[in-house]
Amino acid sequence: MSTVYLNGEFIPKEEAKISVDDRGFLFSDGVYEVTSFYEGVPFYMDRHLARLRRGLSWLRIDYDVDQIPEMHRRLLELNEVEKADTSIVYLQITRGVAPRSHPFPKDPVPPTVYAFAKVWQRPSQEEWERGFAAVTVPDRRWSRVDVKTIALLPNVLAYQAAVDAGAADAIQVRNGIALEGAHNNFFGVFDGTVVTHPVTNVILPGITRSVVLELARKNGIPVEERPILVEELPHAEELFFTGTTNEVHPTVKVDGRPVGDGKVGPVTRALAAAFAKEVRRLKEAGAAHV
Ligand code: PDD
Repeated sequence: MSTVYLNGEFIPKEEAKISVDDRGFLFSDGVYEVTSFYEGVPFYMDRHLARLRRGLSWLRIDYDVDQIPEMHRRLLELNEVEKADTSIVYLQITRGVAPRSHPFPKDPVPPTVYAFAKVWQRPSQEEWERGFAAVTVPDRRWSRVDVKTIALLPNVLAYQAAVDAGAADAIQVRNGIALEGAHNNFFGVFDGTVVTHPVTNVILPGITRSVVLELARKNGIPVEERPILVEELPHAEELFFTGTTNEVHPTVKVDGRPVGDGKVGPVTRALAAAFAKEVRRLKEAGAAHV
């Protein structure tokens, strides 16, 4: 039986109830975060908290994020996943409960805070080695996708389009630019340089993205943050996605056409190895603090 966190309490999931007047339910008026843990050690929690703090502040939702690390640790423990190889905590904060009316409630209400922990599974080594297929889909999202709001309908439809096409991932395209996935950031390798869209209002500033860019630079792999045009995709040597439950995720086919030679490429492999090494380093450092 899973234990979830709701508004200050750790309770069985079956007992967790929210009001039909919750503004998250009525307006998607809220933000979320997904943080990964490796054997219970958080992956760059400080960056997740900073992104969440920015989102809350932009939405003008008053919530103190400093309590989150301890709440996440308790959730992992209560669900007995603190030793799991790979787990996540999903956290959602909405503006709270008030009769339906578009503007913020006149008298402020406490935010609704909900979180759960669960194990996630990496693809098998064989699946990763084979690589994954992606399809391009129109980006139908709003103009502030850098804020991690719970309004994910366009992302849901993008992901479903990939599933319907028998692919693993969607590449969201706007104005001829391949921006990012349905739930992950998108990278290409061109002439040996790792390319990804700069952090602006049209992509989510992924934590995994930021770490992978740092690892590339540390490992002497050239990096360029610039838009990738859809028409460049057939000329990419390699393509891959990054994300909390994706790590470094190779794409070997786009819209039915092979990427490069259709195999997982050397830069993707080097970055995946660097990422795995970084996870080991964090686990060792984390364990040293227990
Ligand atoms: N998705 N882009 C989008 C649109 C995302 O939803 C996500 C994360 C990312 C990658 O960000 P990060 O590296 O910080 O996970 C990029 C989460 C995991 C989700 O919706 O489940």
